[in-house]
Amino acid sequence: MTQPYVIDKMISAKTISARIEELATEIRDAFAGTDKLIVVGLLRGSFVFIADLVRELDMNVEVDFLEASSYGDSMESSREVRILKDLRGEIHGRDVLLVEDIVDTGFTLSHVTNLLKSREPRRLETIALLDKPSRRETDVKATWTGFEIPDEFVVGYGIDFAQRNRNLPYIGKVRFEGGE
Ligand code: IMP
Repeated sequence: MTQPYVIDKMISAKTISARIEELATEIRDAFAGTDKLIVVGLLRGSFVFIADLVRELDMNVEVDFLEASSYGDSMESSREVRILKDLRGEIHGRDVLLVEDIVDTGFTLSHVTNLLKSREPRRLETIALLDKPSRRETDVKATWTGFEIPDEFVVGYGIDFAQRNRNLPYIGKVRFEGGE
């Protein structure tokens, strides 16, 4: 059972949408000349972000998904990253954009990036909607970041707390009732 909590709005749906437009322009420019971009979403947290992002990418894209183990139902990151669902398609010699919801310790991004690199894509770039730089325990940084946020546990816009709150249209921070 999860302790009761409230969600304080942190980043509005409108702000997210405006930022995605900017990011999409940068991505389109960076991949100009690519015949097809393979956009890889890291499940499950990136599903809303990738849906909005690809609709702003006015170019030829293919969408694929990868699922890596992360927090499970807890609020703590595990250092061990396992691949629960692999890509359907080949990425060898292709241009790939890996889409992550949050970079926290960085273990997930680092592990998945290394895995994808071992398949020798022509080019691999990464994008994270949120970044918590103060939590970093590895030497990774996404090519593009939507927003840098402080060390707060957040939910919404695809991101969950014990599988809840993914359907909130905005990003909110979790505050336990009775806590600060
Ligand atoms: P990392 O491996 O520690 O960087 O963790 C990355 C994954 O942990 C993210 O893709 C999220 O699934 C999850 N995560 C990190 N911070 C939060 C949070 O504040 N709320 C919900 N999930 C989070």
